[in-house]
Amino acid sequence: MTVAVGIDKIGFDTPGLVLDLVSLAKQRGDEPDKYTIGIGQDQQAVVPNYEDVVTMGVNAAQSILTDADRQDLDMLIFATESGVDNSKSAAVFAQQLLDLPVNIRTIELKQACYAGTYGLMQARDYVTLHPDRKVLVIAADIARYGLATPGEVTQGAGAVAMLVAANPRLAVIHDDSVFMSQDTPDFWRPIDRSQALVDGHLSTDVYKAMFAKLWQRYQDQTGLDLNQIDGWAFHLPYTKMAKKALDQVIDQADDRHQDLLKQRLAASQAYSRRVGNTYTASVYMSLLSLLANDDSLQAGDRLGIFSYGSGAEAELFSLSLVPGFEDQGPKTAVNRILDRRQLVSVPEYERIFSSQLLDSTVNSRSAASPRSLRAQFWGWQDGQRLYQVPKDEL
Ligand code: COA
Repeated sequence: MTVAVGIDKIGFDTPGLVLDLVSLAKQRGDEPDKYTIGIGQDQQAVVPNYEDVVTMGVNAAQSILTDADRQDLDMLIFATESGVDNSKSAAVFAQQLLDLPVNIRTIELKQACYAGTYGLMQARDYVTLHPDRKVLVIAADIARYGLATPGEVTQGAGAVAMLVAANPRLAVIHDDSVFMSQDTPDFWRPIDRSQALVDGHLSTDVYKAMFAKLWQRYQDQTGLDLNQIDGWAFHLPYTKMAKKALDQVIDQADDRHQDLLKQRLAASQAYSRRVGNTYTASVYMSLLSLLANDDSLQAGDRLGIFSYGSGAEAELFSLSLVPGFEDQGPKTAVNRILDRRQLVSVPEYERIFSSQLLDSTVNSRSAASPRSLRAQFWGWQDGQRLYQVPKDEL
C-alpha cells in the first residue's frame, strides 16, 4: 500500500511594515475603489532593506520546525524568483540560519510564481520513496514593480514554509496533477533589473486560459466534477484574478455548492488582500488563508490548488484535509503577524522602496536592529551578504 504523503505543517512570514492602498490610490490620482474592488487589494507588505527572501523564508520555517524535524530532514527546497545571488542558492543561506544538519540536500528553484509547486511535488515524490524522512519546502518572494507603475498596486512580499512528511497532520497531496508550459511574454525580469516587466492584461488572459484548459483535463483524468471540489486555493497576483478564473466554470456546480465555493474563495483571498502578491508563495498563502478564515472546512474535504507562474507554466492538483487538521493551521500566529505590522505613509514607503542595498561592491549596513527577534539581512561586507539570526529563537 502506498503511504499517504503531504503537508505536515505550514508556516508564514511577511515584513513588519504595511502600506494602506487607499492612501496610495489617492496619492497616485486613482479611484480607491479601483484598487480595493476592481483589483481587490487593501494593503501591501513594505520591504525594509533588512528583509529579503532568505530572512522571510527562515522566519517562516522557524515557526514550524522542531529539533526532531531538523534531524529527519533530507532536503531543503527554496523556491523563489527574488534570489539574492546568481550562483549560491537561498537554501544554503537558510540551512545555516536555521541550524539544519550538514547532511541534507539544498537547492533553489525558479519558474516565476510556479516554482513552489514544483518543489512541493519533488518533496512529495521523495518522501513517498523515503517515508521515514522529511523535506522542507520554502516559497518566498518580493513582488516589486516600481513606483507609480500600473503594477505598483499589486506589489507585496512574504514566505510560506511547508514540512512534507508521511502521514501528514494537515493535508494529503493526491497524485492527480495536470500541468502545462507555454513560452509567453506576460511577465519577466531581465537579469540586470530589480523590478519586473509585466503585461498584466496578457497575464490575466493566459492565467484564465490555462486554468480552463487544466480544469477540463483534470476532470477528464480523474472523473471528478466541480461539486466534488470543496474549495480552491489560487495563485493570487491580485485577488480579483481568482474570481475571474473561477467564474469561467462556476456554473458547473449546483447552486448550493456555488455559494460554498464563493464563500471559501473569499476566505482564501483574505490574507492576499492584506499582504499583496507573494509570487511563488502566493498560492500557499491562499491555502493558509482558506484554512484560517473558513470555519466550515472538515476533515476529508478535497481542495483544488491552481498554481500559475508567468512565462508561463501552470499546475492543477488537489489535496485532502486529514482529521485534526484544525490544530495545524497557524491561524493565531499569522493573524498576530499581520495585526502587529506598522503602517507606513506613502512618502515613507517610497523612501524605503528606494533604500534597498542592491550594490554588492559597497560595504554597507542595513537598518537591521540588534534587538530584533527575527532573522535579518545585516548588510554587505567584501561582496558577501551578512545575516543575523537570534540563536535563542532556534
Ligand atoms: N471602481 C471599481 N472598479 C474599478 C474602478 C473603480 N473606480 N476603476 C477601475 N476598476 C476596475 C476595472 O474595471 C478592472 O476590472 P476588471 O479587470 O474586472 O475589468 C480593474 O478595476 C482593473 O482596472 P484596469 O484598468 O484593468 O487596471 P490596470 O490597467 O491598472 O491594470 C493590473 C491592473 C492588475 C493588470 C496591473 O496592476 C498589473 O499588471 N499588475 C501586475 C499583475 C501581474 O504581475 N501578473 C503576473 C505576475 S503573477
